[in-house]
Amino acid sequence: MILITGGTGYIGSHTAVKLLDQNEDIIILDNLYNSRAEVIDSIEAITGIRPKFYQIDLLDINGLEQIFKENKIDCVIHFAGLKAVGESVAQPLKYFNNNITGTINLLMIMQKYNCKKIIFSSSATVYGTTQEMPLTENSPLGVTNPYGRTKLVIEEMLRDLYASDNEFAVVLLRYFNPIGAHKSRLIGENPNGIPNNLMPYICKVAKGELTHLNVFGNDYDTVDGTGVRDYIHVEDLADGHVKSINKVKNNSGLFTYNLGTGNGYSVLQVVSAFEKANNIKISYKITTRRAGDVATVYADTNKAEEELGFKAQYNINEMCRDSWNYASKH
Ligand SMILES: NC(=O)c1ccc[n+]([C@@H]2O[C@H](COP(=O)([O-])OP(=O)(O)OC[C@H]3O[C@@H](n4cnc5c(N)ncnc54)[C@H](O)[C@@H]3O)[C@@H](O)[C@H]2O)c1
Repeated sequence: MILITGGTGYIGSHTAVKLLDQNEDIIILDNLYNSRAEVIDSIEAITGIRPKFYQIDLLDINGLEQIFKENKIDCVIHFAGLKAVGESVAQPLKYFNNNITGTINLLMIMQKYNCKKIIFSSSATVYGTTQEMPLTENSPLGVTNPYGRTKLVIEEMLRDLYASDNEFAVVLLRYFNPIGAHKSRLIGENPNGIPNNLMPYICKVAKGELTHLNVFGNDYDTVDGTGVRDYIHVEDLADGHVKSINKVKNNSGLFTYNLGTGNGYSVLQVVSAFEKANNIKISYKITTRRAGDVATVYADTNKAEEELGFKAQYNINEMCRDSWNYASKH
């Protein structure tokens, strides 16, 4: 039985669907802070299977323990966490408490119930800022904000835990920029308010909810001066988790993988791909650079390909199409 923390969230829900499609038994835990209980209905509508769902906060260690008492959990995929960089700068303690304390609770209960397999949602943000591209898993680590610090601290905690007990199987997955949605249009990313990320922002402009996209700087050393990032379809990302599950089933060890496509696209290239894929014009204005942004970030994906057999399948046009397919319906 696989426990998915944060399983009603954006990436968790897509992973839940993929695991059910592969006949895995799953349980979902989420406190619904950033998602809705109806996601369970959507997962059932897509797969025909209704996963067991616990509305529990990771900070509630007794509630968490109850799940392990009632079920034989062999493996955990740990998505649950807060992820807004700007908010983490304003409220670091909220992030440290939720993400780090929540993870400590989870690991203590896992250890108590002899569950030693965990796949953790890390982020390319752990690589810090001044780097040679592409980023390999051995590129130097460093963080620039409290959100990133929680990811790095949790990675380090998991390294220490593995060092203390080599029976653990730990996979650290460093995601690049997930976009897109399931083809059913039933699950996807639907942030409230003004989005922090490019694609949800573009979708709100396409819907007429925002007048234009702000492009933060067009004087970077890139193809058109705007920032370049490695966008990956959330379905590909979900597939990376299925492959990681197969890895931890048969191996103990500590494994770290980048999950990206290995290709970078600039903001204006994404805008143009979105316009072509969906036949919608996106207004944008160039503004000043945003503090902390770097020109270019993209992944070296060789390790994930060689060791997990993971290779992203979707291209940028398909990502733009699927993002809008979902956003236009919600
Ligand atoms: N989306 C991205 O761009 C991105 C990039 C890199 C890493 N990540 C990481 O991947 C994970 C999943 O991201 P997502 O985009 O699906 O985010 P999301 O907000 O859609 O999903 C996270 C889920 O965790 C739940 N949650 C948060 N704190 C909790 C707690 N204390 N107890 C129980 N549930 C809790 C939320 O309600 C939400 O449903 C996060 O850890 C995030 O930091 C995301």
